[in-house]
Amino acid sequence: MSTRSYHVAARVLHWSMALLILSMLFAGLAMVQSLEPWHLTLLQLHKSFGVVALVAVLARVIIRARFTPPPLPNSVPPLQKKVAKLSHILLYAAMFAMPISGWLMQNAAGRPVVVFDMFALPSLLPQNLALYGFLREFHGWVAWAFIALILVHIGAALHHGLIKRDGVLQQMLGNKPKD
Ligand code: HEM
Ligand code: HEM
Repeated sequence: MSTRSYHVAARVLHWSMALLILSMLFAGLAMVQSLEPWHLTLLQLHKSFGVVALVAVLARVIIRARFTPPPLPNSVPPLQKKVAKLSHILLYAAMFAMPISGWLMQNAAGRPVVVFDMFALPSLLPQNLALYGFLREFHGWVAWAFIALILVHIGAALHHGLIKRDGVLQQMLGNKPKD
């Protein structure tokens, strides 16, 4: 049976993670440029929601392996299909790299990652200030690369949905395209 849209769990995770990740990126950039009293509260929320994002992407990979995504329509040229596939792999890589580098960065700074004031994650690295500096920079570089990728991704999705109207956006929205 050919699936015409992504599985409902994949769609719910895609849109809720899109909201979460965009909020994390904007909040992260605002946070590092502010010394206001809310800085520390935002930082705590940033770390906890970042761990939520890590759990969500793990769930997403499992669901993806279980339910094959719908293929792109034949009207999409083969090279463009390859580029789309590569861009999805890079988006997944960034979804893992951001929370993992945040977690490791905190460990290298000698701080445990406490999730919503409830429990602490295990420390994966010994304290090492040079490594902390590198991971802190890495977290920022990946964030900018991620923003660039997301902009291209949204541009491509809107191009398919508004200009080509070939059903690709509907695959993620869940409306069945007309036969
Ligand atoms: C999807 C997950 C995440 C995203 C998209 C994200 C995004 C960002 C961004 C955009 C910045 C600002 C970077 C800069 O301009 O240098 C930032 C900073 C930071 N993030 Fe994340 N982050 C995520 C997960 C995490 C996690 C899981 C942790 C820790 C457990 C974490 C800890 C931090 C810390 C400590 C800073 C620096 C704050 C400061 O120096 O004031 N992040 N993050
Ligand atoms: C933080 C933001 C976002 C991230 C990280 C993200 C990530 C992804 C990933 C990884 C896929 C591939 C899914 C898979 O095959 O498992 C995907 C597919 C898709 N996304 Fe996003 N997305 C984001 C935001 C958006 C937005 C805002 C739109 C719409 C304007 C959108 C539209 C789509 C569409 C239409 C597909 C299906 C493409 C296809 O079937 O080849 N995404 N997204």
